[in-house]
Amino acid sequence: MAQVLGIDIGGSGIKGALVDTKSGELANERIRIPTPQPATPDSVAATVRQLVSEHDYSGPVGCCFPTIVVDGHAKSASNMGEEWRDLAVDKTFSEATGLPFTVLNDADAAGMAEMRLGAGTGLNGVVITITVGTGIGSALFYRGQLIPNLELGHMAGKGGISIEKWASDRARKEEGLSWEEWGARFDAFLSRAARVCTPDHFILGGGVSKKYDYFREVLTVATPIHVARFRNEAGIIGAAMAAMDDD
Ligand code: BGC
Repeated sequence: MAQVLGIDIGGSGIKGALVDTKSGELANERIRIPTPQPATPDSVAATVRQLVSEHDYSGPVGCCFPTIVVDGHAKSASNMGEEWRDLAVDKTFSEATGLPFTVLNDADAAGMAEMRLGAGTGLNGVVITITVGTGIGSALFYRGQLIPNLELGHMAGKGGISIEKWASDRARKEEGLSWEEWGARFDAFLSRAARVCTPDHFILGGGVSKKYDYFREVLTVATPIHVARFRNEAGIIGAAMAAMDDD
């Protein structure tokens, strides 16, 4: 089956589309439903069910989730909340919809889409994809192979707090930073990541990648940076690919 439903769960929106997993193209208009607040397992599962029925879909579903994910279980609370920690996210959504779910970390999904069909095609060695949004997601690839759950956004920053609290797009917006001011913070993040992981390439995704020209001048990190191809759809596409791999 080439068309698979991909779902991207985020802190503010839950997005889904049918994905042609061979080309990475969306086969229909993406549907976005605001994430219910509070985002409990019950309320999010109900939204996932709604997305599935709005697509009139049955078949395997790929779903990316903004926490550490091991064997379909959330292993951190991150920006979702404590109720999710240790929960079998795949089972929760399968029970809500009656469909098989493959669940993986959102940045890992976005990275997979880029490596297979986007800006990472043909890149070898160590590649790190970075997705900047509410948090900072990261995915690590060696010779095209995903090493899951790299959490560079949780390297300690000033005062020991996660560096993403200071260098994410949320920090830029909440603190009213100019692109140059935020870019200097992001540069510190990238430089630290480069020092720790020695990547051959970075791929930059998420909303800020569309504004790369606004801050590229302030970046000093030596590692080559490539702008992601799929931008906001990368998570949906990579999640669908992961479901396809499992099928
Ligand atoms: C989470 C990551 C996630 C990233 C982007 C971070 O807070 O710890 O698992 O990939 O946000 O959503």
